[in-house]
Amino acid sequence: MPLTSPWRADFPGILNLADEGQTYLDSAATAQKPQIMLDALLGYYASGAANVHRAQHLPGERATRAFEATREKAAQWFNVADAQQIIFTRSATEAFNLLAYGLESQFQAGDEIAISAVEHHANLLPWQQLALRHQLKLVVLPLTETGLIDLKQAAQLITPRTRLLALSQLSNVIGAWQPIQPLLALAKAQGALTVVDGAQGVVHGRHDLPALGCDFYVCSSHKLYGPDGVGLLYGRPQALNSLKHWQFGGEMLLNTDYHSAHFRPAPLGFEAGTPAIASVIALGASLDYLNGLDANAVAQHEAELHAELLNGLQQVQGVKVLGQPEVALVSFVVEGVHSADLAHLLTEQGIAVRAGHHCAMPLLQSLGVNGAIRVSLGLYNDSSDLQRFFTSLDQALELLQ
Ligand code: ALA
Repeated sequence: MPLTSPWRADFPGILNLADEGQTYLDSAATAQKPQIMLDALLGYYASGAANVHRAQHLPGERATRAFEATREKAAQWFNVADAQQIIFTRSATEAFNLLAYGLESQFQAGDEIAISAVEHHANLLPWQQLALRHQLKLVVLPLTETGLIDLKQAAQLITPRTRLLALSQLSNVIGAWQPIQPLLALAKAQGALTVVDGAQGVVHGRHDLPALGCDFYVCSSHKLYGPDGVGLLYGRPQALNSLKHWQFGGEMLLNTDYHSAHFRPAPLGFEAGTPAIASVIALGASLDYLNGLDANAVAQHEAELHAELLNGLQQVQGVKVLGQPEVALVSFVVEGVHSADLAHLLTEQGIAVRAGHHCAMPLLQSLGVNGAIRVSLGLYNDSSDLQRFFTSLDQALELLQ
């Protein structure tokens, strides 16, 4: 039975792209948005834009209330008791940079930061550059053959010298859940700080952050069916208190004279300048939308899409799937075919997939490939999208093989 999505009609972007002949299979890069979110985005401007945390006038007070309501909704989404533990940044990337600067003074030359071989550049470069600035050692935890972090080797590499462990929950290339909890436990036992990159993981299921047990968790709004321009940084209170301020400007301070200043604690002390007000408010609408869905039905739909995608790929001659993906985020190469050529032909047929190194160059190098095609699906995708993809893939490979 072909799979249909009961939520497809809620996403004008997917319908409009389909009218243009485009099949959108790149939700891991950014998701399409529900109409309720678009209404909230426009509604903020249409009802009278105003800055937050600054003005006592009615529009300012209304904007502040809506902005802070999203912080509450995000806290509830992650089962976090105190919404003040959620900082809004401009992106997940900015949140990693905030951490790399905010924690800088806690490291001494020779200390080690551990990441894994699977990391996106956003969870690699801020630590790599921090290590270079302070003569720290960046330790890269290797993967098993299936693309998961090797727990045995990790147990050897996470030592009393490890001061921080930063790991992705779900790779943006391999689409498999990493064994995060035992790794966090290893780091904790050594007294290291822990950071989880939830940029992809956050989209699949609900995550109880206090139960996960990390010090910090990073994700972005735009993959979670919200607008772009907003990242989220969760921190345990003690971990947040240990952060040094890093961007300086409006509304992040308690008082200042010309020569010194006292700064606010998190979250506002880390939200210098005018934030992405409309986007934060609209993210609240996306969270309302997601909260209103039947979580079991969503999980089942995702699992069925994943199975259909994987089964279909396994039937295409020469296809090699990278790792063992567990969600509908699957990267593959085809023997004897350059992924850029394949991507080009798919693009010509209106198939929107991501191709290339996926901002994970070292991972692709370690897998021995210089590029891969990635198909990633959202809750609006259905069998008709996959059928169009497989038909186009067959036609492209006929030309290329
Ligand atoms: N990090 C996003 C991706 O993997 C942009 O495509």
